[in-house]
Amino acid sequence: MKIGIDIEEIKRFQKLLKDKKFIERIFSKDEIKYCSSKKNSVQHYAVRFAGKEAVWKAINTSKKLAITDISFKNSVLGKPEVFIKSKKASYIDISFSHNKTTVVAVAISSK
Ligand SMILES: CC(C)(COP(=O)(O)OP(=O)(O)OC[C@H]1O[C@@H](n2cnc3c(N)ncnc32)[C@H](O)[C@@H]1OP(=O)(O)O)[C@@H](O)C(=O)NCCC(=O)NCCS
Repeated sequence: MKIGIDIEEIKRFQKLLKDKKFIERIFSKDEIKYCSSKKNSVQHYAVRFAGKEAVWKAINTSKKLAITDISFKNSVLGKPEVFIKSKKASYIDISFSHNKTTVVAVAISSK
């Protein structure tokens, strides 16, 4: 079992997210659809960025894995699920939490 964690300040993302190219480079189409539908989009984007870092920390081995290879989709219950290169990675669990200033994500890989 492996674990990864990341914390981010939302302030850092407010400027970055004004850049459409940055958003499209870092986030999947599903993530963009989900986050842009929310009232406080920046929190949802920032926690997904933290989530990518947390998953990377949990699973990165000698194999090359880019942050952009990792994405999330929420289940019907709202729970985020992990995708690696667009394939569901059920062996990795992710949990997100966010408030107005800070986001945190924890990932656990059973492999
Ligand atoms: C889902 C819930 C736990 C989210 O908690 P919150 O304090 O409002 O918000 P947080 O910032 O900590 O967490 C938000 C994240 O929770 C995650 N989440 C939502 N539903 C989830 C679920 N069913 N399972 C796991 N994670 C879930 C999402 O990733 C969400 O972020 P996202 O929308 O960007 O993907 C809460 O809204 C809820 O429904 N609670 C009901 C359970 C309850 O009664 N708890 C109180 C007694 S313990």
